[in-house]
Amino acid sequence: MRNQIWAGMIRKAHNLGALAVLIVVAMLTGRAAAVELPDPAAMEASLGEAAVLVEVVEPHLSTIDRPVSVQYRGWPAERVLDRWLGQAWRAPGAEIEFRALDGYVSHIPAERFRQYRAYLVFERSGHPTFSVDNRLQNDKNVALGPWYLVWDNIRNPALRGDGGTFWPYQVKKLWLSTARLDALLPAGIAARHADTAGLAQKYCLSCHQVNGYGGDKWPINLAERVKSLSRPVFLQWVLRPDLAKPGTGMPGLPDMMPTDQRAALADKLYDYLMAVPVVR
Ligand code: HEC
Repeated sequence: MRNQIWAGMIRKAHNLGALAVLIVVAMLTGRAAAVELPDPAAMEASLGEAAVLVEVVEPHLSTIDRPVSVQYRGWPAERVLDRWLGQAWRAPGAEIEFRALDGYVSHIPAERFRQYRAYLVFERSGHPTFSVDNRLQNDKNVALGPWYLVWDNIRNPALRGDGGTFWPYQVKKLWLSTARLDALLPAGIAARHADTAGLAQKYCLSCHQVNGYGGDKWPINLAERVKSLSRPVFLQWVLRPDLAKPGTGMPGLPDMMPTDQRAALADKLYDYLMAVPVVR
């Protein structure tokens, strides 16, 4: 897959000549590759279609009682991702990073772009500048360019609850990160484990790791550690850690969850952690 990404990137760089700045991190780390987004004129030429107007409830201006709609101009994010990252971003588990001018990085699960409609925009329609006030951070006229990622939260009002999460602005680069994929779903694991890998990430990897991916609070590699545990020992550990080791700092799975669902989750996590190969 890496080779395909690489080949695709070369083709694109070729097509766009000096416009595409290719950072060959894929070759250095074997993990990811970044693309610098071109200016709107080059984007239009490269996509072969005109920008569209999209109306959204602007999370930085809105409150729950007073939604403020704003119109932006740009392209559907899926088109941009296809054009600049090839099909690789559609692989299950891929993550897309949006890198801002100041180095701020926003990680967005690629699945979200198939679930909901997003746009990469470069202009605020009917407004003198491409900027927005940020109500929460008490900032006036926050510059949004060169690119701003917005979500169609009018067609899909459920998205409004997320506020400005996943709305990175001042975006300059896209980065397809396969670090998560390489660690959580390495070669040799069956595709049916993809969902459980996401659950392990959600419930375990803020503190622990699987093959180097995850948190630093207690950075053991669960892919390795769990292979030495029997199922009953594992189940007790994640369901009642306080019984297994009184005074432990390890929290059990959330006890707000219905009991049978919680037990089924623990079982699935064990299946996944036993199946995931240890990558060194
Ligand atoms: C909030 C942080 C946190 C989360 C979330 C968490 N753990 Fe832990 N875990 C710990 C800590 C701290 C320890 C060490 C506990 C101790 O020794 O008292 C630990 C220990 C462990 C151990 C035993 C390690 C050993 O060598 O004895 C296993 C296995 C484990 N966790 C699995 C999991 C699994 C599976 C999940 C997800 C369901 C999970 N943990 C979620 C903090 C966490």
